[in-house]
Amino acid sequence: MNAIHVHGGKPLHGEVKIQGSKNAALPILAATILIKGTCIIKNCPHISDVECMIKLLRCVGCTVLWDGNDIVVDAISLRENRLPREYVTGMRSSVMMMGALLGRSKEVSLDYPGGCIIGERPIDIHIEALECMGARIERKENGLTAGAQSLKGCPIKLRFPSVGATENVILAAVTAQGVTILDNCAKEPEIISLCRFLQKAGAKISGIGSRRLIIEGIKELNPVIYTVEADRIVAGTYLLSVMAAGGKACLTHVPVEYMECVMQTAQLMGGDIQVDGNLLTVIREGKLKPLPYLKTEVYPGFPTDLQSVLLVALSLADGESLVKETIFNNRFRMAQELNRMGSDITVCGQDANIRGNRTLIGRSVVAEDLRGGAALTLAGICAQGDTFVNNYQYIERGYEDICRDFRLLGADVRRRCEETEIASKKEETE
Ligand code: EPZ
Repeated sequence: MNAIHVHGGKPLHGEVKIQGSKNAALPILAATILIKGTCIIKNCPHISDVECMIKLLRCVGCTVLWDGNDIVVDAISLRENRLPREYVTGMRSSVMMMGALLGRSKEVSLDYPGGCIIGERPIDIHIEALECMGARIERKENGLTAGAQSLKGCPIKLRFPSVGATENVILAAVTAQGVTILDNCAKEPEIISLCRFLQKAGAKISGIGSRRLIIEGIKELNPVIYTVEADRIVAGTYLLSVMAAGGKACLTHVPVEYMECVMQTAQLMGGDIQVDGNLLTVIREGKLKPLPYLKTEVYPGFPTDLQSVLLVALSLADGESLVKETIFNNRFRMAQELNRMGSDITVCGQDANIRGNRTLIGRSVVAEDLRGGAALTLAGICAQGDTFVNNYQYIERGYEDICRDFRLLGADVRRRCEETEIASKKEETE
């Protein structure tokens, strides 16, 4: 049973620890391929995208083990450079293996990662940049093969600050011959983490956190022990959930330094945000204010990954809001399911007009992507009655246990399989 059952209607109160960052852990795990030795990546989240990356690492010959929330990767010898279709098409971030395998084995073949419901998600920017460094990329019907006698550092300017393309160039450049100057690169926190991991392994990278990275290739990287920071999108999910449902929550281990825009947005909506180190307290007891205009942007702007949960909150705000999505071309899709619960969201191209003061009514809904699934779970918490969010498998790609976390915040949320277990236990005791 892959559905979540939510009984809604109560504000949120409680405390929850924020898990390790999915989008930081994935490129760092790919980067371990570059290192002939054993790395330990600490504070990794137990989510299906990380499990998929572990399978990819094992496919190419790495020995990979979990130890609690730490992942031990031994990449001393690789045996394969072809990535299996089911893992690549199932997880887009497998494309990061291109840069790492080109850097280590000088050869890689993989199926096109494919799009997903939020957008086509091509990899043309990745390919252009790697070809610039001397990779010969042969495009086939459903995949590509890339090879390079030796990758050469060079000046590269991305036409768009793509997170994945930036990560692929970094992974190819750290052991390339010569210097790579990467302009208009992404500067999301996850890029900073990847650079810090590689610097710890001996890589020569400057300009970290800026739009220009300068990477001087070196011969060998050394094994590293590295701790992944907490997940700013998971933290933002729960912060905006308290804004939507009302109440008070303490979020611990929050990477507050990466959440300025999200915290400011919550304050504009009437939230009281208190920060003490990595402890973030969010309170929303008065009216929830609408946002006359908000657009999603590359970091440090408002993250596209929190747009779906924001739509839930704005459906309950005291007035009309307008949201512009500037990163993906189909990320408003989940608004259709929200409207079936009572929201009144009109989507026109990249703009969504959200009428507020709505009453959400619980019903069965279908998740079609990771963050949309989290948003529908939140909608169930804010709705009257019972909501069933189907396709839980999307949510577990990025949230270790969203039901556990929302229950820690006082919500009545559980997996359908948990319910059947509880029911059968009750029968046994009766
Ligand atoms: C990363 O995806 C994240 N995933 C996404 O998080 C996040 O939404 C996105 O960055 C934007 O912040 C991981 O880090 C694993 P992009 P990525 O390349 O690298 C277009 C989540 O929910 N583009 O910055 O794929 C692309 O189509 C996920 O955790 C090209 O046109 O994002 C999109 O419109 C969802 N050609 C835009 O750029 C390319 O070659 C941003 O994509 C590459 C990208």
